[in-house]
Amino acid sequence: MSQQATLQKISNLAKRRGFVYPSSEIYGGLESAYDYGYYGTLLKNNIRDLWWRMFVLDRDDMVGLDSSIIVNPQTWVASGHVGSFNDALIDDKVTKERFRADHLIENWVEKNQSKLKEEHKDVDVAGMSLDEMAEFITEYGIKSPNGNELTKPRKFNQLFETEYGVLAEGKNTVYLRGETAQGIFLSYKNIIDTMRVKLPFGVGQVGKSFRNEITKGQFIFRTLEFEQMEIEYFFNPKESDWKAIFEDWKEQSTRFYDELGIDRENLRYREHSDKERSHYSSQTFDIDYKFDFGFKELLGIAYRGDYDLKQHMEHSGKDLRFTDPKTGEKFLPHVIEPATGLNRAMLAVLYEAYREEDLGEGKTRTVLKIKPQLAPIKVAVFPLQKKSELEESAKNLHKKFKLAGIISEFDNSGNIGKMYRRQDEIGTPFCVTIDFDTETDNAVTVRDRDTMKQERINVNDIVEYIRNKVSQ
Ligand code: GAP
Repeated sequence: MSQQATLQKISNLAKRRGFVYPSSEIYGGLESAYDYGYYGTLLKNNIRDLWWRMFVLDRDDMVGLDSSIIVNPQTWVASGHVGSFNDALIDDKVTKERFRADHLIENWVEKNQSKLKEEHKDVDVAGMSLDEMAEFITEYGIKSPNGNELTKPRKFNQLFETEYGVLAEGKNTVYLRGETAQGIFLSYKNIIDTMRVKLPFGVGQVGKSFRNEITKGQFIFRTLEFEQMEIEYFFNPKESDWKAIFEDWKEQSTRFYDELGIDRENLRYREHSDKERSHYSSQTFDIDYKFDFGFKELLGIAYRGDYDLKQHMEHSGKDLRFTDPKTGEKFLPHVIEPATGLNRAMLAVLYEAYREEDLGEGKTRTVLKIKPQLAPIKVAVFPLQKKSELEESAKNLHKKFKLAGIISEFDNSGNIGKMYRRQDEIGTPFCVTIDFDTETDNAVTVRDRDTMKQERINVNDIVEYIRNKVSQ
């Protein structure tokens, strides 16, 4: 992350500049729910499109999918989510406020490293059972953030339930999907029947998932609904070494964060302990990003084996085995799953890009140094003077950019310095000004966001010039 970025500053800028708004704010909002404004939507779409291109369109061993959010509820019984998709919930005995018990313990552990070192205690919070958490809280007298006693931790299922119509025999509970991954397993048979895929192959999907999160106040890092970009990569365990595929996906996933402009220094790989791993995984690695509130997960890579296909085969009674075209042998493929969050990727991009720069003479600027390929607006066009011929020419150039498919913004709202500052804060890599010389030298001034250097470019070349600088 940039040294100056904090969650407070990023969320303030995001609201002030139309990236992210608190959802339903006129009614007091809803914690952990956000709306994406114009610039936020553009940035998020650019990140999503990059992922889709890198992992689906550019590869011959991948296909894509867009599956339903609400599916047959047996899915979530078979996948284990109804039984095991739980967080450890704990209440403040006085205020009745609810917290994630593991998060309270993690915070306490972070602040009491030296004490635990003295006691030679190595604490694996993510792997703790409910009883172990209760013991730890009692042993160290951990209180709620309000300083009050806590209840015992208990299980809290994260799936959102809703009702699907009314059947003759009564209500029918369905769930909003807790991960996009299950949609891929549900469509797996249709995909192998229709897409001429050969093992190993993968299915990529981007879409919304929903989780009843207890932890609040982490802006778009942890929300009730969020977008996941998930891949299930199927292979024959007799022919492919899962460790090699796993390593390859670690490298490919890191390359994605390189493409987002994230410094590798700010990334950390973390292997899940045996106790921490999800019910379906026999190895999991996270890629974490260094936020100001600690290293936190952006992506998880899990070796799910044949867990999901086996479960769905048992629960549905349908044969989901793959037939080896050479030997005719029937078997269930194994799966490696790189799963990442789009909103978290966007938050990391904002953290990485955020700068407060001292311009001398008491002047400062805030600038988002987002890679031009990802920037929401690629170019802003200004006339040096309002209500003049310059304005007409600037509008025409703005239109020319748009016709060329380059996202452009026209602004004649204030003085040039203010217009630059505004574009800096939304990360626009280039500003083009039509000035009094344009008519005589047929050139415009192009100002670079990062260096603030200006150069004159001929009007006839300007669209190509910007296109070359901002294209993927
Ligand atoms: N199918 C595997 C799976 O869902 P996960 O680690 O629970 O794994 C994958 O989720 C990614 O989804 C995470 O690495 C994170 O980036 C994102 N994610 C999970 N919960 C989230 C939440 N409540 N808000 C925003 N992003 C979330």
